[in-house]
Amino acid sequence: MNNIGICGAGLIGASWAIGFANAGFKCLVYDTNQESIKNFEKTSNQLLLDLKILEPEIDVNQIKSNIILNCTINEICKDALLIQESIIEDLDAKQQIFRELDRLSLKNTILASSSSYLLISKISEYVEHKHRCINAHPALPPHVVPFVEVVGSNYTSNEIVRKAINLYKKANYAAIVVNKETEGFVLNRLQGALLNEAVRLHEGGYASMEDIDIALKHALGIRWAFMGPFEIMDLNAPEGIKDSFSRYKSGIQNLAREQNSVPEYSEEYLNKLENEQRKRLSYSERSNRIEKRNKMIASIRKLKLELGEDIHDG
Ligand SMILES: NC(=O)c1ccc[n+]([C@@H]2O[C@H](COP(=O)([O-])OP(=O)(O)OC[C@H]3O[C@@H](n4cnc5c(N)ncnc54)[C@H](O)[C@@H]3O)[C@@H](O)[C@H]2O)c1
Repeated sequence: MNNIGICGAGLIGASWAIGFANAGFKCLVYDTNQESIKNFEKTSNQLLLDLKILEPEIDVNQIKSNIILNCTINEICKDALLIQESIIEDLDAKQQIFRELDRLSLKNTILASSSSYLLISKISEYVEHKHRCINAHPALPPHVVPFVEVVGSNYTSNEIVRKAINLYKKANYAAIVVNKETEGFVLNRLQGALLNEAVRLHEGGYASMEDIDIALKHALGIRWAFMGPFEIMDLNAPEGIKDSFSRYKSGIQNLAREQNSVPEYSEEYLNKLENEQRKRLSYSERSNRIEKRNKMIASIRKLKLELGEDIHDG
């Protein structure tokens, strides 16, 4: 059992396959749509170039030879250490595929869903061997962003969570455990808080989209590339984290009182967002921007590596 089964080869599945293949795992890829497989073939060279920025010495052909495309569901299940499900975000579809993966795979294979919001307790509701099912949520795109958050349901065994964390670490991911199921896990709860606030500020007329993006990318984001909120607060006042929160807590609490409304995300507002954003970046320029995003992520990771701030150093 050394293979990784990739179930669903869209944006996330393809990127997972490259990430695992780069760590030396053999990846067998299954998708119901031939277009996705063709697209994988078309874009994989570009994704591999991102890895070259991070690790110039990698052998691209070796990584490619670790990926077997166009497999059947039976083939990805056979001998799989882990099956990483990354199909569309639809509960019925995920429940159905999990039942099938459970039926076809060896009983100690880990069944992991990449789902962003659907909880594994729901996804595995009709699965016979629920103890081996987990959410393993990556950050886009997982071939260069080295993160996965693992969470089990009440039925998941601790042993499976432990095995999964070890496996993701072996594949060079910073893997965290989320101790209890919660919608959005850790990553999207943090990101959602920020997105909702960006929208409140923009919709309320406090700042433009451009200026809100600037505040993130030229201030908070620069720190966040190597420090989390608790570490940042620790360095924020002379005596440390307690001193920091004591000084600023009333201001932070006032914000929390104001920040608890739910933005409506009306059709009208979403159209306004789309129109303003298209003036900043035309639709046809998006793919170039995505390529540049991936390259910049890889370059920042390389710098972190050089500064001793990579996943294994922190
Ligand atoms: N896009 C993101 O930013 C992001 C980040 C983290 C996690 N995720 C999660 O990853 C999953 C996949 O998202 P995506 O952005 O890659 O979507 P996507 O639409 O790009 O890819 C989904 C793929 O699944 C295939 N598929 C659909 N039904 C299938 C089935 N029954 N069997 C096999 N293949 C099937 C489709 O053909 C498609 O290739 C979702 O659950 C999503 O929530 C997405």
